[in-house]
Amino acid sequence: MSAPIRKAIFPVGGLGTRFLPATKSMPKEMLPVVDKPLIQYAVDEAREAGIEEFIFVTGRGKASIEDHFDHAYELQDMLTNRRKDDALTLLAETIPAPGNMAFIRQQEPLGLGHAVWCARNFVGDEPVAVLLADDLILSAPGCLKQMVAAHGAVGGNMLAVMEVAPAETASYGVIAPGGADGRLVQVDGLVEKPKPQEAPSNLAVIGRYIIQPAVFDDLARMERGAGDEIQLTDALARQIGKHPFHGFKFDGTRFDCGNKTGFLEANIAFALARPDMAAGVRKIIHSYAKD
Ligand code: UTP
Repeated sequence: MSAPIRKAIFPVGGLGTRFLPATKSMPKEMLPVVDKPLIQYAVDEAREAGIEEFIFVTGRGKASIEDHFDHAYELQDMLTNRRKDDALTLLAETIPAPGNMAFIRQQEPLGLGHAVWCARNFVGDEPVAVLLADDLILSAPGCLKQMVAAHGAVGGNMLAVMEVAPAETASYGVIAPGGADGRLVQVDGLVEKPKPQEAPSNLAVIGRYIIQPAVFDDLARMERGAGDEIQLTDALARQIGKHPFHGFKFDGTRFDCGNKTGFLEANIAFALARPDMAAGVRKIIHSYAKD
């Protein structure tokens, strides 16, 4: 039996350059898919998986994330006066219990590994989940809940993985798979952004991780990898052989909301999954598809 996963890190310190000018004064993680910011999907997924403590690694210009998870008294007051009970319920659902959220500044965006390392003192000596809000996954149950259930049996480090087209490996961390057991695949190797001809497989790492505290010690070396950034996958690769290490082939559809096409696709898919919107959106899509 491995230790329960009680804490999650949400790295939100990136610059979001692929979404400029939208992200000039607004964090990428606050971009809405239909009517909910990306970061709230990630927090809701973590809550569903049993996470109790939420650790955000932020940067300059990210204050609206902190505000999003706080009370909005003036707005709540107006909604109360106007008897907008549904809207009030929606707002109440955005706010985790007092004292369960921590916000840490990553003073420089030196890479995902560096962002995760910035959270080390708030994690302590226990395994922790990491969720990247720009990887949005449509599934029931959520991806992290599936992973936590699988992790209970095997422990160690775990990554969400999915098959990608061989030509796309250079955009991902890619695993060298060992033996498989259902949705679990042993990780024998891990390479960040390999060219297709050098990729050990087409099983790509997606932004959901469960990591052991030893990963923080490795990240402390501040070794630079692909793009001259401190890469989480490099630190994880150095853990191979020290702890159990698995890829988890989650059940669900993942949307890369860090790029514009993936973000648009997520909006369409999530709208089509909503009973209140599906018919109208389908009609619109058909009207454009005629041309
Ligand atoms: P990305 O690689 O998508 O980088 O980060 P980015 O800066 O957000 O976006 P682009 O490439 O400039 O458009 C993946 C995740 O890691 C976080 C991001 O906030 C995002 O959730 N991240 C990245 C950090 O928290 N700090 C970093 O230094 C880098």
